[in-house]
Amino acid sequence: MRYLMMAVALSAGSVQAAEVDVLTAEARQQAQALGQSLMKTLKQGIKSSGPVEAIGLCNVQAPAIASQLSQGEWQVGRTALKIRNPGNAPDEWETETLKSFDARIKAGESPQMMEATLLSDNEFRYMKAIPTKPLCVTCHGAELTEPVKARLSELYPDDAATGFNVGELRGAFTLTKTLQ
Ligand code: HEC
Repeated sequence: MRYLMMAVALSAGSVQAAEVDVLTAEARQQAQALGQSLMKTLKQGIKSSGPVEAIGLCNVQAPAIASQLSQGEWQVGRTALKIRNPGNAPDEWETETLKSFDARIKAGESPQMMEATLLSDNEFRYMKAIPTKPLCVTCHGAELTEPVKARLSELYPDDAATGFNVGELRGAFTLTKTLQ
């Protein structure tokens, strides 16, 4: 009897593991679409009118892109321990996950493909680490130019998303799928 119960528990476990694999693959695609769209907008903005103008573009476009891609079953967005947009503040699970990503990166692990998942009865959640790249320090680094600083404090008086070095955890993509 005990063996039978263990077998049932095991197969339930592997069904769940398979479900998580499928959902994780979907989440990766969604996160990639968000990342690519944001990066394209950022690069085009900087190229055509410089970083100060690109701040205004991110201010309007970043939330718009996220909400446009959140029309279906997936809610997609970004979060961080130190945030610029107050609308990106992390909840409890996101805070714990970000802290763990940060500790792992500080311990020497590569942030590439650093992910976390959470499956409950009615939703699936996914996070993926976003490392700081050389391009990012223009607006998130320790030494910002005066015009960049001025524009940021105009749009984000409580901005906490500066002081980052290349390679550090900047934040994470955070996605939720509602399950039936
Ligand atoms: C031109 C300035 C600029 C550059 C360059 C830039 N960002 Fe941002 N970043 C912003 C602005 C403005 C916001 C707030 C936009 C919003 O509402 O999500 C932001 C928000 C974020 C957020 C969401 C969390 C938060 O703090 O609100 C993350 C994550 C992020 N940036 C990562 C990056 C990464 C990674 C790079 C480099 C690939 C980068 N940024 C480059 C201006 C910039």
